[in-house]
Amino acid sequence: MGSKVLLWLMSGSLVVLACLLTRVSRYGPPHTNYDAAVYFDHAHLRTPSSKADIVRIVQSAAERGQKVRVVGSGHSWSSVAVSEDILLSLWNYTGVVGLDRDEMEVTVKAGTTLNQLNRYLNDRGLAMKNLGSISEQTVAGAISTGTHGNGMGFGNLATLVTGLEFVSGKGELVSARVGSNVNMFKAAQVSVGMLGVITEVTLSVEEIYLLREVLTRHTLDECLGQFDGIMRGGDHVKMWVELFSETCGVFAANRTSETRPRDNPNWTAKNIEVLVMEAILLISSWFPPSVPHVMRLIFLPSSVFSPYDRVDTPPAVLEVPHSLPVHWEAELALPFEGCPAAIRELRRIVIEHRIPANMPIEIRPVMGDDIWLSPNYGRLSCHVTLTLYNPSPRAAHDYFQKFYDATRTTLNLSPRPHWGKYVTNATRKDLSTMYPKLADFEKIRSEMDPRNIFINGALRDNFGF
Ligand SMILES: Cc1cc2nc3c(=O)[nH]c(=O)nc-3n(C[C@H](O)[C@H](O)[C@H](O)COP(=O)(O)OP(=O)(O)OC[C@H]3O[C@@H](n4cnc5c(N)ncnc54)[C@H](O)[C@@H]3O)c2cc1C
Ligand SMILES: *[C@@H]1O[C@H](CO)[C@@H](O)[C@H](O)[C@H]1NC(C)=O
Ligand SMILES: *[C@@H]1O[C@H](CO)[C@@H](O)[C@H](O)[C@H]1NC(C)=O
Ligand SMILES: *[C@@H]1O[C@H](CO)[C@@H](O)[C@H](O)[C@H]1NC(C)=O
Ligand SMILES: *[C@@H]1O[C@H](CO)[C@@H](O)[C@H](O)[C@H]1NC(C)=O
Repeated sequence: MGSKVLLWLMSGSLVVLACLLTRVSRYGPPHTNYDAAVYFDHAHLRTPSSKADIVRIVQSAAERGQKVRVVGSGHSWSSVAVSEDILLSLWNYTGVVGLDRDEMEVTVKAGTTLNQLNRYLNDRGLAMKNLGSISEQTVAGAISTGTHGNGMGFGNLATLVTGLEFVSGKGELVSARVGSNVNMFKAAQVSVGMLGVITEVTLSVEEIYLLREVLTRHTLDECLGQFDGIMRGGDHVKMWVELFSETCGVFAANRTSETRPRDNPNWTAKNIEVLVMEAILLISSWFPPSVPHVMRLIFLPSSVFSPYDRVDTPPAVLEVPHSLPVHWEAELALPFEGCPAAIRELRRIVIEHRIPANMPIEIRPVMGDDIWLSPNYGRLSCHVTLTLYNPSPRAAHDYFQKFYDATRTTLNLSPRPHWGKYVTNATRKDLSTMYPKLADFEKIRSEMDPRNIFINGALRDNFGF
């Protein structure tokens, strides 16, 4: 008996240790993506530290007929940043180029991370208008895949761009700015790295503000039944939905006139809680039939999504404030009105196909925009993020493909996959129906990169360029 308990304790500690080790971040250009499923070969890694170097690398690659892809922080689940020849990292090309307080614009070198930018702005009493769940991404990487936060009146991060500069596939420096050079600008704001190597990005910024965030716990039925009202109930609103326990946490935040942070939960305690949960998820992921029971066990107690009411800075509220287990994600941008039906369909798929959905689904509204390859092009969107802990690649693919097929065919919602997540087997034909401006994009792309040096296998499969 005693030795059995010891064995359990030892294996338990090993699991916790493994969980901790995956959190130790590496220094330097990434070798893998976030969940270590995509590998970046460093055999032909280049880390230029000047614009002239970037131009030279692209020119010489074009002359030799070599391919080039830029990897940012490597935080995409999809293979968009993988290179078949030269892998370019702007690890050594970071920092703020200029701050214009009259125009309220900041210009950064493209390898700067959002974390670095947030710190720079905060020190000067400024802030980003919106942010996603993390800020590890580079500015260029984040805008290039249409990375977004949440809020009915807030566009994705690329909508905050007012100008940018890139090195085209011909080795030429090209600039585009809002209001001038309109077509080039609309193509370049979200380009999935297909126009060239972005060297500088100018973003509009704001005077610093504080956000008051309230977390409330609901049933799934309440969240879907009052979907519109809940999503309109604040500047930034997101839902975390657990399908087996049918619970729903609503995080709603407004800008506030309160002047100092208050009432933050104890994040240390929360991190410990997440670590324990991760150990449970790991063990249950080895026995998929246990997942529905384990999820009910974890999410039914009212301590999960237990209400809070706090005030803090934009990064502290908009980013997920505690750690999350390293996981897999896929995401679709749907027309806003279609979201409740899509979630009901998702629940049906999960139950019917016994999918071990072992993390909550995230639902976030994002304002429509006019950026050609933006998943939010021309419509107010609702982003549905499927999340799995420790899935087999096959199970993850099937799960997402079923949801994608259902929203596309059964519900006819023209779902648009997140470029940085899992893009399925969408073809050029599918993408042209989703993106009415794809032909215009292709026209500019083929002028900017006539030899297709920025196209890798994943992009060739999807776009057929
Ligand atoms: C834990 C986690 C949480 C996330 N949360 C969110 C979220 O809340 N909202 C959301 O929308 N997304 C989210 N994402 C997805 C993430 O924001 C995107 O995948 C983003 O593109 C990653 O940025 P990166 O710097 O790592 O770029 P990478 O993944 O390395 O590259 C992304 C793309 O940008 C291109 N690129 C990078 N730099 C340049 C450059 N200088 N010039 C040209 N092209 C370039 C790459 O070639 C590639 O095509 C999350 C990802 C993770 C891992
Ligand atoms: C660039 O980055 C690499 C990798 O981190 C590093 O080894 C190298 O010293 C850097 N070079 C310059 C010029 O900063
Ligand atoms: C945000 O503002 C809306 C509309 O004024 C209000 O209904 C909601 O309760 C507020 N929420 C928070 C968290 O302040
Ligand atoms: C937060 O929680 C941790 C772990 O439970 C505890 O050690 C710490 O004292 C708590 N901090 C505060 C300020 O309550
Ligand atoms: C994509 O996958 C789905 C389901 O697995 C299948 O029905 C469809 O034919 C595939 N499309 C292509 C273009 O391969």
